[in-house]
Amino acid sequence: MPQVRFDDTGVAIRMSNTDFRQLLQQRLAELDARGQRRCRRTVDSLPGGTCRINGRELVNFGGNDYLNLAHEIGGSNGVREVFRRQVGATASALVCGRSQWHESLENALADFEETEAVLLFPTGFAANLGVISSLVQPGDAVWCDRDNHASIVDACRDCAGQMLVYRRDRLDSLDESLKHRRSEHQQVFVVTDGVFSMDGCVPDLPLICEIAERHDAMVIVDEAHGTGVLGAHGRGVCDFSNVEERVLARVGTMSKALGGLGGFVAADRITVDWLRNTARPQFFSTALPPAICAAMLESLKIIQAEPHRRQHLAMLTTFAHQQIDELGLQNVRGGVAPIVPILLGDEDLAVRVSTDLQDAGWFVPAIRPPTVAKGTARLRLSLTAAHETSQLRDLFESIRTILNGQSQGK
Ligand SMILES: Cc1ncc(COP(=O)(O)O)c(C=O)c1O
Repeated sequence: MPQVRFDDTGVAIRMSNTDFRQLLQQRLAELDARGQRRCRRTVDSLPGGTCRINGRELVNFGGNDYLNLAHEIGGSNGVREVFRRQVGATASALVCGRSQWHESLENALADFEETEAVLLFPTGFAANLGVISSLVQPGDAVWCDRDNHASIVDACRDCAGQMLVYRRDRLDSLDESLKHRRSEHQQVFVVTDGVFSMDGCVPDLPLICEIAERHDAMVIVDEAHGTGVLGAHGRGVCDFSNVEERVLARVGTMSKALGGLGGFVAADRITVDWLRNTARPQFFSTALPPAICAAMLESLKIIQAEPHRRQHLAMLTTFAHQQIDELGLQNVRGGVAPIVPILLGDEDLAVRVSTDLQDAGWFVPAIRPPTVAKGTARLRLSLTAAHETSQLRDLFESIRTILNGQSQGK
């Protein structure tokens, strides 16, 4: 509960702007004291899975450019021409911001996803917010995985229906919970990340679908880290798990494997039509820049024409997990996505190892509470198709040396 301060007469104390800023200062100091104040870095992202930080070139294991497209797709004449003609979309899609590039991209994504329709959003965050708040109405309920992305959690918290939380490692309790609470609600939904972004694991989607079907619940999957990367056709986790037909809607982002920006939802024509009419982040926000749509069309072509990129990525992912096993560190089960956590537990250790790695030429971010649970601080490797096995081997050699040095108190 928020702490309300009262004066002697029992009235809540009001604050001037100055007092309020002082309060914020105090809260920032508290974050500092807990080691949770976020610091930003300025990064020059370079082609080939590298970056420059403070003038130093590093191998970059921090980005989500899984297929190494972010630096490639802007170079095509088509994209350059669209960008030269117009930068901003100037309005929301509903008013006059939807160009031929938006239309072509929605059609191309629907073809790629093999769904009846697709609707674009300004970002993946906005897509989750829009889809959940539009579909979950008063009297409905949404079961949300405890570890879902912040955009899903926020959407579930703010939607008109009731939010219930489950854990993907305890799907029997999801089943139980649905069994007991289903009759209280009209429509019920189960929403899950396709790939959990802090550990690269995928949920047991066939089982989730089975449970949902048992209780007439509808499943929504966020494919943010799966699109372009997983599955026989590169469509993501639903493709990988062979449940595409059992899911109501798949939410995607183009900010990761597609190397650009923008969210989308892929579903049947009626669901998309409803979202087009009601999803607020899509019509109260300016549409994507047309040149971004042109660039995303390029990405889609490459993803379909060059499956070797995701095959190489899958090989690197397996190799990274083998290296973790060889180091004798705790490994996650079911890590098939190109996000590979190196679980260290202790927060200070994670930060020290990340800093030492940076000195050795590797950018590998440390992830700490509150982003992950206490005692599960980690390094998080994000792989790209530009990385080589030899780089990974050298990286793990550096990690081994640094950890040995740390354990000997050097
Ligand atoms: C699982 C997941 N969903 C949604 C998003 C939001 O996507 P975007 O960056 O396009 O807003 C992210 C971004 O980090 C994510 O990791």
